[in-house]
Amino acid sequence: MTSFKRLIKPLFRDHVFAGRSLLFLEETDSTNMLCLRTPELLTCPGLVVQAQRQTKGIGRMGRKWEQGQGNHLFCSFVLTPPSTIRYPPTLTLLCGLGVSRTIKALGLAEHEILIKWPNDILIGGKKVSGILCQSTIVNNKTVIVAGIGINIKGNADQFPKELLGKVTTLEKHGLDVTPQRLLEVLAIEIEKILQEANKLGTSRLLQKWVQEALCLGKRIWFDKYGRKISGTVTGLDHIGRLVVRGEDNKIHIIDSGQIDFTYS
Ligand code: BTN
Repeated sequence: MTSFKRLIKPLFRDHVFAGRSLLFLEETDSTNMLCLRTPELLTCPGLVVQAQRQTKGIGRMGRKWEQGQGNHLFCSFVLTPPSTIRYPPTLTLLCGLGVSRTIKALGLAEHEILIKWPNDILIGGKKVSGILCQSTIVNNKTVIVAGIGINIKGNADQFPKELLGKVTTLEKHGLDVTPQRLLEVLAIEIEKILQEANKLGTSRLLQKWVQEALCLGKRIWFDKYGRKISGTVTGLDHIGRLVVRGEDNKIHIIDSGQIDFTYS
């Protein structure tokens, strides 16, 4: 079995949760899968694994994430969540907040970035980033592999046909950034968020998520027991599930699955 230890380099030595060290690879099948099957990576707290290309990148709900090999950021953070995060999906939302703040820190106006619950990052209504968090147990502790893909540049033909018109890149919105720089800013933002979660818990961060995601009042559609229901987003509950007021005035709590909404 390949040993990666000698390829792991320090990144931000003062970080505790995200980006203490970096494993950079030219190619792997999927940075998430690589971490999950490699105990020496899972036992390296604060590690981030970045690949220039993925040959079998995976997305949420069994989808592929294969667009734009070489042009984008493909990375997985190996996270040991602070003890204040008892419900792993909360961490997924916090990573989405980290991505959104990263794009803002690089210069994009706040009103252009929206987080579609749970964690698709959209610019101008089109997806620029997706996050897939997967958990495992190592030495009796939960470890979360937070895989993040951010589209940086390139033409539409790099994306699968079914995504045409649904995806965008940072370059299209005037941001010129290398995958390396993007990863560094991302590690800084996620570290700040997890430091805050560790000290103060997650309730303020989840309130911030609601504000920064720009989702309040959005009309959405979701599946409940095979039925399409529509309603209006009223916020998140204490662990980050989406709270929606249905057209029948009932409150629905959504904890998984896919939502659709109009971007206006
Ligand atoms: C989504 O479906 O929106 C989630 C996409 C997550 C893609 C990233 S790219 C880096 C990491 N490795 C993977 O195989 N997937 C995630």
